[in-house]
Amino acid sequence: MKNKTPLAIVILAAGRGTRMKSSRAKVMHEIAGRPMISWLIETAEQLNPEKIIVVTASDMDDVADAVAPYACVVQDKQLGTGDAVKPAMALLGGFKGKVLVLLGDEPFLNVQDLEEMIATDDISVMAVRSSEFQGLGRMVLNDDQTLDRIVEEKDCTSAQKEIDLRNAGNFCFPAEKLANWLGKLQNDNKQSEYYLTDIPKIAQGEGVSTKVIETAAECYWGINTRAQLAEHEAVAQNRLRAKAMENGATLIDPATVTFCWDTKIGEDVLVEPNVIFAAGVTIDNNVQIFGFSYIEGAHIEAGAKIGPFARIRPQSHIMKKAKVGTFVEINRSTIKAGAKVPHLTYVGDVTIGERANIGAGTVFANYDGVFKHKSTIGKDVFVGSNSTVISPVTVGEGAILAAGSNINKDVPENAMAIGRSRQENRHGWASEYRKIKQEEKKKV
Ligand code: UD1
Ligand code: MG
Repeated sequence: MKNKTPLAIVILAAGRGTRMKSSRAKVMHEIAGRPMISWLIETAEQLNPEKIIVVTASDMDDVADAVAPYACVVQDKQLGTGDAVKPAMALLGGFKGKVLVLLGDEPFLNVQDLEEMIATDDISVMAVRSSEFQGLGRMVLNDDQTLDRIVEEKDCTSAQKEIDLRNAGNFCFPAEKLANWLGKLQNDNKQSEYYLTDIPKIAQGEGVSTKVIETAAECYWGINTRAQLAEHEAVAQNRLRAKAMENGATLIDPATVTFCWDTKIGEDVLVEPNVIFAAGVTIDNNVQIFGFSYIEGAHIEAGAKIGPFARIRPQSHIMKKAKVGTFVEINRSTIKAGAKVPHLTYVGDVTIGERANIGAGTVFANYDGVFKHKSTIGKDVFVGSNSTVISPVTVGEGAILAAGSNINKDVPENAMAIGRSRQENRHGWASEYRKIKQEEKKKV
């Protein structure tokens, strides 16, 4: 939907986030595997703005990278949310329309609420109704329900503290008047900061009213602490679980499944409890993922079976109806259609051909301490249990590797390779040995 009035969005992200007790910028802390600012940018994009400008501090290159290609401006000193908007004004130039100011620590905004804010003639501000959320500004209303002013919690009288209509922090302003209001902000408050929240009172004095738009709160409003970060993570996970189920996946115990924001999951997929999807996973239809599996950066094709207790690492491709079983780690490898790696195996830098079977305890030794090497296992190969394949090795189609082998040379098609010492049976040796030991014991 294209807005009638041109829209610019300014996102404030320069705060130090001291309550997070972190050396990282607050907005770079992740929710479901991506920085909180990226969630907000995605929401902002849905409003089709002409511009998105992000306000950061000078040492926040990672924030600039995360929000690219959108422009960043630097707030030299963190003197408050009102001061933070000022450097964005230079980039806005003579912009005419609406300026929506969003706080970088509030990633889950409702697009309809924002649209309502933008559609308001004068100023609009988002609010939540809750007496539980501490630390938020209190909304003091006029008789006509427009806003008189916002009082930051630290500046509240004890009566004002009881007000349950609280500031969610996001504003929409007419662009032409914003610079003038920013210029009038004072820092005569408990925190000696220039508060964006002081603008409604200033504007009211000039005959411009502020409409309060109430929004629903699924969790604490704004992320200032690690506990609030965890609350937002829970909200994100619940949404991702619901989406997976809507798309046709069965989650036996949804609360124990962790998704990443970009997990793609098909129909008739079964996910048992305690499964983790990290970044970059695509699961096609009819895949079964058994309990306690961890999957990252992998494409799992239709009908494959994974786990329980499987670990699949990035750049892995598990093709149709393949099986990756219990205590198996797959790393940068392709398991082709119908191949089986059922138990206790490490597969690193390997391509395993169609229908090949890799026995229990097989290790592909891909690292010589300096370089990583690749191996290729042909289709229909059978690798006996407890074999070590020392890469680089190519095993031809249909070959058999005898159990317990160390394989460090290529194996031709349909050959059998044995790489182990021969067994020798010494007849009667064991009973003779026991007799000698019993005699020795009597003398002790
Ligand atoms: C702010 C509001 C409060 C509201 C709450 C909602 C003000 C003065 N207070 O408080 O009324 O209830 O949000 O979550 O606006 N930032 C800068 N530069 C600065 C200071 C902050 O860019 O100098 C950015 C931060 O990175 C953050 C956002 O602005 O993303 C909000 O700052 P924060 O310190 O979290 O404000 P709150 O105390 O939560
Ligand atoms: Mg905050």
